[in-house]
Amino acid sequence: MSKSAMLTGANGQDGSYLAEFLLEKGYRVYGLIRRSSTVTTERIAHLIGRPDFELITGDVTDATGVHRVIQRLRPDEVYNLAAQSHVGDSFDVPSATFEVNAVGVLNLLETIRTESPHTRFYQASTSELFGNSPPPQDENTPFIPRSPYAVAKLAAHNLVHIYREGYGVFACAGILFNHESERRGEEFVTRKITKYLARLAVAMENNGGNPPHDWTKLALGNLDAKRDWSFVGDMVRGMWLMLQQDQPDDFVLASGESHSVREFLELAFKSLGVDYRDFVRIDPKFFRPAEVNYLCGDATKARQVLGWSPRVSFEELITRMVESDVARERDSHGLRCAS
Ligand SMILES: NC(=O)c1ccc[n+]([C@@H]2O[C@H](COP(=O)([O-])OP(=O)(O)OC[C@H]3O[C@@H](n4cnc5c(N)ncnc54)[C@H](OP(=O)(O)O)[C@@H]3O)[C@@H](O)[C@H]2O)c1
Repeated sequence: MSKSAMLTGANGQDGSYLAEFLLEKGYRVYGLIRRSSTVTTERIAHLIGRPDFELITGDVTDATGVHRVIQRLRPDEVYNLAAQSHVGDSFDVPSATFEVNAVGVLNLLETIRTESPHTRFYQASTSELFGNSPPPQDENTPFIPRSPYAVAKLAAHNLVHIYREGYGVFACAGILFNHESERRGEEFVTRKITKYLARLAVAMENNGGNPPHDWTKLALGNLDAKRDWSFVGDMVRGMWLMLQQDQPDDFVLASGESHSVREFLELAFKSLGVDYRDFVRIDPKFFRPAEVNYLCGDATKARQVLGWSPRVSFEELITRMVESDVARERDSHGLRCAS
């Protein structure tokens, strides 16, 4: 019989890639998504209607609903990807962030413990737990969270340990460093850059190869923040591998390379043959009350135990995101011109 998996955050960036990955492996996949007044299923539209994929309306902060769904499905695996996932926004909505990112995890773990103890659980932990602990960061590096997002994720991370060690739940935490794709939310810095670049590329195509003279600059925050960026497709393979082991454990997944936002800009703008400095302005509004300066992961344990390593390079990731956004911009520009 095929395995079953429930994904929270199924319509997020990671959820959409993980759903594809698990369906490919022959799983029956249940995707939990929040009720919304607008359509939020764009990333998984191509999966809707498949007999092995079912969407369920639910919210991880709703303990009764979580209980009912898990009690009904008793899935082999639960991947908890639901989160208020934007670090900067967590300073504006700290309570809501804590509720989803920490209490939501408690609701899932407690239901698994009482109603479905055979279920294996994956928790989306994060490199933001490390804060300004010096790089390279691995599973033994101290956590010094620097945002409400990271504090909530640390509470969840500790809950995973309590349910694993105290109650024997097969619960794993993936300490994932940044990962991106053409499905990254548009408010994240990488996607902000590639979307802007795509608009600029199409504007230049329609203006004799030159930027329009009244072109608005892209407003960004700290260009010196260094992050360890990977491709989501590599990360979801690692999430799955964690739940296939004999023992539950925590694993860092990272590329082992760190690049600044400035380097991301340089490479992305190079593809258009223009200098990013002519198009970017710094807006203090995008600086965070407490910054995380330098993240660079050491994924030796994942490499040795899971046989995991990333396959897509930083350069390939940028090219992929830029090309996808340029294609989308050309399509939408064509549509705008035709109408
Ligand atoms: N991407 C990264 O670089 C990275 C790195 C480390 C850890 N993580 C963690 O990995 C997970 C997946 O990240 P992502 O990049 O895929 O984030 P994402 O695109 O923002 O997806 C998060 C998903 O969670 C859903 N969600 C939010 N609140 C919920 C609630 N109360 N109940 C049910 N669903 C809820 C969102 O639904 P809506 O669509 O309705 O908003 C969204 O689909 C997150 O937990 C994130 O914190 C991500």
